[in-house]
Amino acid sequence: MAIGMGIIGAGAIGNIHADAAIRAGLRVVGAWDVRPERGSALATRVGGKPAASIDELLAMPEVDAVAIAVPNDMHCECACRALAARKHVLLEKPMALDTAQCDLVLGAHRASGCVLQIGFVCRGTPAALAVKKFIDAGRFGNIHHIKAAIYRRRGIPGLGGWFTQKKHAGGGSLIDLGVHVLDLALHLAGHPRVRRASGAVWSVFGSPIDQYRFTEMWAGPPKLDGVFDVEDGATALLRCDGGLTIELNATWAANIPDNALRDGICVWGEKAGAHFEVFGKSASIATEEEGVLVDIAPKFNADDPIRQAWDTQYAQFIAAVSRGEAEHATGQSGRDLQAAIDAIYRSERENQEVAV
Ligand SMILES: NC(=O)c1ccc[n+]([C@@H]2O[C@H](COP(=O)([O-])OP(=O)(O)OC[C@H]3O[C@@H](n4cnc5c(N)ncnc54)[C@H](O)[C@@H]3O)[C@@H](O)[C@H]2O)c1
Repeated sequence: MAIGMGIIGAGAIGNIHADAAIRAGLRVVGAWDVRPERGSALATRVGGKPAASIDELLAMPEVDAVAIAVPNDMHCECACRALAARKHVLLEKPMALDTAQCDLVLGAHRASGCVLQIGFVCRGTPAALAVKKFIDAGRFGNIHHIKAAIYRRRGIPGLGGWFTQKKHAGGGSLIDLGVHVLDLALHLAGHPRVRRASGAVWSVFGSPIDQYRFTEMWAGPPKLDGVFDVEDGATALLRCDGGLTIELNATWAANIPDNALRDGICVWGEKAGAHFEVFGKSASIATEEEGVLVDIAPKFNADDPIRQAWDTQYAQFIAAVSRGEAEHATGQSGRDLQAAIDAIYRSERENQEVAV
């Protein structure tokens, strides 16, 4: 019988989880949201049962696994409760608010015998998979530098709502968007330990809320009586084992002329380098063959890179459940990433490079 999936948090991403789970052949058997009308709308849409509480959802015998898609401050508690109830967990990014909470989740995971996979969906785009194959085959040689960038001209999500409140989100563009590209950089490089971080964050556009100019909003219009107390831009230089440096940029909002900067990942290796946009449809590899500089343009099906990345994520989750252990996007990788994020925020507070 296909895995029975429960959805915890029936907002934008909870609904995307439900659809991706169904495409992957799973049964979405239940949903819960703190706003009951959202949980029931999702459950009804996919033929599952709405649960009146998280306990009720976790007590349903037909729920084998859960996708957790609630605000970041609820990740740790929901994951620990689900693992204690012996449910496999696909937990949205960021893993939690900070490293200490990640450790609680890892402790619950160890005690559970269940799968814990983190929602680092960007690892599964066709471009990321193609470049990773070249790297793993040794075609890049030693990687000495990665630029990991995600730029939005005006992309503050749900300005005034939970995304822009430190107590709910843990931070702003760094913990929201930066985690995606930093995870991807570390994943491509084979997860070296990040040893030192020098970072800076700033808040320029989010406040006052009624002065925010934008053309479109993720997660609804600004809440004029809401709170914005996080960064809307961040940068960092990370030093890793083996000499790798990672330059990170993560902005929700900046006065960046259109097309002036391409976001994505730029990998610099001794034998080859690559660039691809995070959800782009192509990748470029620059290398040298027979003493000649050569460009490689991998060909792959990238009709809908976002959907394909979600499908990859669910295929990996199903494989993990059948194996009994996550191979991709493990809890440990989420925890190590969070330690780097925490260090970047600490570096900003201390105004100096810090140890991770
Ligand atoms: N993988 C990705 O690409 C991606 C993209 C966007 C968001 N996310 C992550 O997904 C998670 C959810 O983001 P979203 O965009 O769906 O947000 P959202 O606001 O659309 O949905 C969150 C849902 O959680 C519910 N909720 C709010 N407070 C709650 C609480 N205290 N307890 C339980 N439920 C509560 C809300 O009612 C809402 O339905 C976040 O952790 C975010 O970082 C991931």
